Amino acid sequence: FQVAFAPSGQSASVPKGTLLSDAATQAGLTIATPCGGQGRCGRCLVRVDRGEVSQPDNPHLSREQQEKGWVLSCQSRVTGDAVVHVPPKKELQELAVRMAASKVAVPLACGLPFQPALQRVFLELPPPSLEDSAAVLDRLQRALQERLGRRVSVSLPLLRNLAATLRSFDWQVSATVHLGNGSGEGELIDLAPGRTRAPLLGTAVDIGTTNVVAELVDLRSGKVLGSASARNKQVLRGEDVISRIVYSQGPGGLEELQALVVDTINEVLSELAQQQNRSTSEIHELVAAGNTTMMHLFLGLPPRHIRQEPYVPTASHPPLVRAGELGLAINPLAPVYAMPSVAAYVGGDITAGVLSSCLFK
Ligand code: FES
Repeated sequence: FQVAFAPSGQSASVPKGTLLSDAATQAGLTIATPCGGQGRCGRCLVRVDRGEVSQPDNPHLSREQQEKGWVLSCQSRVTGDAVVHVPPKKELQELAVRMAASKVAVPLACGLPFQPALQRVFLELPPPSLEDSAAVLDRLQRALQERLGRRVSVSLPLLRNLAATLRSFDWQVSATVHLGNGSGEGELIDLAPGRTRAPLLGTAVDIGTTNVVAELVDLRSGKVLGSASARNKQVLRGEDVISRIVYSQGPGGLEELQALVVDTINEVLSELAQQQNRSTSEIHELVAAGNTTMMHLFLGLPPRHIRQEPYVPTASHPPLVRAGELGLAINPLAPVYAMPSVAAYVGGDITAGVLSSCLFK
């Protein structure tokens, strides 16, 4: 059958049953397939304008999108002559935003309570007076203890500006607090003036060897607001994990690979924030998943022993770190969780897959 691709006009003659993504390749077009053509990422969309193709049911597509002819090119097979529209990148991004907007965070998707580790509370603090001369930090912690029922620590970078910040906000603040470090104590992450209506943003990042994909999540509702992806810039220094481990062992190699993946993540997050007219500094939490080598490189841990018998990683359960420690361009105090791995070759990407598929239930 003849499959013509618009708007380029390229076409290919292919046998019945050929995947549309393969037909596009034969026609000389490249359709990105970030999930390797498994029908999971929803990033290989095309619209069938004429003719028909067979496609399995796909939860990525709304009924309305399917009625308009949108299909996943990695899943749809040629059944006759067809004219297929390949959307330019911008149109694809808009579609991805709409598709992501129908998704929710994992606990909700799996029917569990949604209890994010971040909370934002509005506080009206009594201004200091001769009768009440408690230190600024004490009055903030007192108010947080009353609202959250726990002590909340304040790090030095926030403490340095605390007195000026609270006075400039007229003692009325929205405090973003991280509750999930396991100690029972909360930690102040950010202060905003007054009663803010801004969404409380977190992001989930899949650090693939080839691609980095991120979703922006509203941590109050659990709704996924958008998604974006980019090629992992580490590809410049080796296409597979073993090449990257070897590269990391050279002088400055580990630092370079860590900087490349962080740079990629920052670009993806910047695109995500732009989609929502927000700033990346408003992202207050990040969860990253990837294979064991990717997680080592992300955290700047030497991965060399992952490829040497007996294949022991530095860490299977990496500690909680702050975004600023890694060079991530979000709120520098934002907690960064690295999904735990099982072994050197069963990584946090698998753990995340078990969670996101609800398989653990
Ligand atoms: Fe991911 Fe088609 S490539 S859904």
